[in-house]
Parts: sequence; structure tokens; C-alpha cells
Amino acid sequence: MNFRDQINTEKLPRHVAIIMDGNGRWAKQRGKIRIFGHENGVTAVRDTVEAAAELGVEFITLYAFSTENWNRPKAEVDALMSLLVKSLNKETATLNKNNIKLLAIGDIESLQPDTRRELQKAIANTAQNTRTNLVLALSYSSRWEITKMTRELAQQVAQGTLNPSQITEQTISQHLSTHHIPDPELLIRTSGEQRISNFLLWQIAYSELFFCHKLWPDFGKEDFFRAIVDYQKRERRFGKTSEQISN
Ligand code: IPE
Ligand code: IPE
Ligand code: MG
Repeated sequence: MNFRDQINTEKLPRHVAIIMDGNGRWAKQRGKIRIFGHENGVTAVRDTVEAAAELGVEFITLYAFSTENWNRPKAEVDALMSLLVKSLNKETATLNKNNIKLLAIGDIESLQPDTRRELQKAIANTAQNTRTNLVLALSYSSRWEITKMTRELAQQVAQGTLNPSQITEQTISQHLSTHHIPDPELLIRTSGEQRISNFLLWQIAYSELFFCHKLWPDFGKEDFFRAIVDYQKRERRFGKTSEQISN
């Protein structure tokens, strides 16, 4: 039986987040430059987003570019940015056809003006869609986001509009860039690396983690479905005992 058929559609995660990793190694294995891997990663993005929409997963967040990725060689950063613009242009029609709404989290202000413009255009052009939300994490890092949130709250305290004793977990969640998005139940990372790389640290407090050995350009629908099947076999206890959960 394939993985798709093993999925219980009554118990789907609402939100799946993915650290798309391994494009550079994929290219290297083929004797090509790293950007060749990024280009081939676009197909995996298309397949995965389609798979999520097909199932009815409400939110899929893709880690596309981290704050730390700005430290890569300029040629790679530039190539990644132009690939992003090109893909956004090309995929808007497909997103609309599949009723997928594009959102972005991260330091969008730090993107080059043309990249930012294309991103905002694609967001506006898909704003009416309702089936699945595709969240791109761009120039994103969790520590950037937490620092920004802390500054905002501190400012409100300094202005006297926020009482420190009123700060709750909700206050913090509401001041993160994901304030309109539920926490991911499932986090997938490809390429065999088992680390978080500054992604959604607050939001993944209780996420199930799934590490896949495939490099991102090789990741496809069945791999996504396999991760969901694996997730559905797990017992999420949230600190309670197994007995409490099954009763
Ligand atoms: C992931 O692939 C894509 C981005 C981080 C933009 P990498 O480029 O990190 O590929 P590896 O990890 O070097 O193989
Ligand atoms: C994480 O991948 C960032 C993205 C997938 C965009 P990296 O390849 O940058 O992560 P590290 O630096 O190897 O942990
Ligand atoms: Mg990597």
C-alpha cells in the first residue's frame, strides 16, 4: 500500500513546517554548482505544496532562506533571490488554480526591492484563496523574531501601555511573525541533518520532528505522505501520561 492510502484524513496536522535542506549536496553529487541544486529544488516545492493542498493541510511553512543564509557567497545569494522572483512569477497561476494563499514570515524589509515587490505581488494575487496557506520563511530566523518581539513588548512597557504582569504565552505568540498561524504539529527536515537551524524555536515547542535522508530536490509527494503517516502513529502526550491520553 502506498503512503497516501495509509493517511487518516480525520487526523491530519493543521500545519506542517519543512526545513528544505540538501540542494547544494544534490548538485555536488552531480558535479554541478550549488545553484543547480536550488533550481531543482523548485520541483520538490511544487510537489510538496500540491500534496499538502491535496490532503487538506491548512498551513505549510517552507524555510526558504534563513537570516544566516545572507552569509553565503554573494553569487549564491543573488542566484537564490532571482530564482525566488522567477518562481513566484511562474507559480502564481498554479497557486490560484489550486486555491493556495501565499504568506511570508521573516525580515521582508531586508530583501532586495525587486524580490520584495514580486513577493508582495504574489501575496496580493493569491490573497483570496482559501484551501491551503503556503507560508514562505524568507530572511527568517527565530532569534531575529524573538528579539523583535522582545523589543516591541519592552517598548509598550516603557510607554506604560503594557503591564509586565500581563505578559502571557499568548502575548508572546501574538507578537511573533506567526501570530496568525497555528503552531506546526509536524516539522520535517530533509538531507539527514538533525538540527533546527534557528527555525520556529518558540512554535515547535511540542512539534513532532521527522528527519528524512533524502536531499531536498529528491523529496516528493510520497515522502511527504510518509512523514504524515509516521506522525499519525505517534502518541502526543504534552507532558501527560500515556494512560491519560488514551482515556
Ligand atoms: C537548502 O539547501 C536551501 C537553502 C538553505 C537556501 P542547501 O543550500 O543548504 O544545501 P546543502 O545543505 O549545502 O546541501
Ligand atoms: C537551513 O538550512 C535554512 C534553510 C533551509 C533555508 P542551512 O543549510 O542553512 O542550515 P545549516 O546552516 O546547515 O544548519
Ligand atoms: Mg544546508
